[in-house]
Order: sequence, then C-alpha cells, then structure tokens
Amino acid sequence: MPIVSISIPEKLLEDLEESLQERGFASRSEIIRQALRDFIMEHKDLEKFEGEIIATITIVYEKSAQKVKTLDIQHQYGSLISTFLHAHVDSSNCLEVMVVRGEAVMIRELIDSLKTSKLIQQVKVVFLGKPS
Ligand code: NI
Repeated sequence: MPIVSISIPEKLLEDLEESLQERGFASRSEIIRQALRDFIMEHKDLEKFEGEIIATITIVYEKSAQKVKTLDIQHQYGSLISTFLHAHVDSSNCLEVMVVRGEAVMIRELIDSLKTSKLIQQVKVVFLGKPS
C-alpha cells in the first residue's frame, strides 16, 4: 500500500484523534481511508444528476473568515441561489443554508467552489429531486 504524507491543522488532528477513540477505528490511516471512501462516494452521487435540479447546500465557516470571499462565490453563482439562511453554530462559527435550483452541471461547479474554498470548513449537500 502506498504511503502518503499530508499536513493538517492542529485542531483537525485533535478532532481526528477524538473520533478515532470514540468510534473505534484502529488507526489514523483507517479513519482517513474511510473518510476518503465517503468523499469519493459522495462525489460519484453528485455526478449522477443531470438537467434541472433542486438542492440545499449547508456550509459552516469561521466568523473570522473573510465573509467577502464566501460572498464572492455566492454572487458568482447568484442565479442558482433561490434563498439562503444565515445562523450561528456558536460564538465563532457561522452556518448558511442555501436553496439552489438550476442545471446540475452548474450546481456541481458551485459545490466544488465551496468545497475547495479554504475558508469553508464544512459543506453538506442534499438533493431534493427535480422541480416539477
Ligand atoms: Ni454570522
């Protein structure tokens, strides 16, 4: 099996160690392999959709992160976003739920932009089927 070295922030490593103990994974490698499988499966699911679709995208980012950058992405794909809700997870983290409607290919682009943004910690997508 090839060995890959990665760098991750201290806090993420702490969270990883915590999950490792709580959930009974044998090693860091095992939990990372599982997370990668989940990530790849999720990506394959996204690839399945074609035509016009509706989805919700939930993002979590640190309040201190430059909101402006997050907004740039939201403005860039503004025509897809029907509405959004802003709330607070705790004193330092913001949560946004966006309702998006549009071509699957464009929604995938938006999701990828959010997922590759270093400012956004979590991105969860729920597809709600095709609009009637
Ligand atoms: Ni906020």
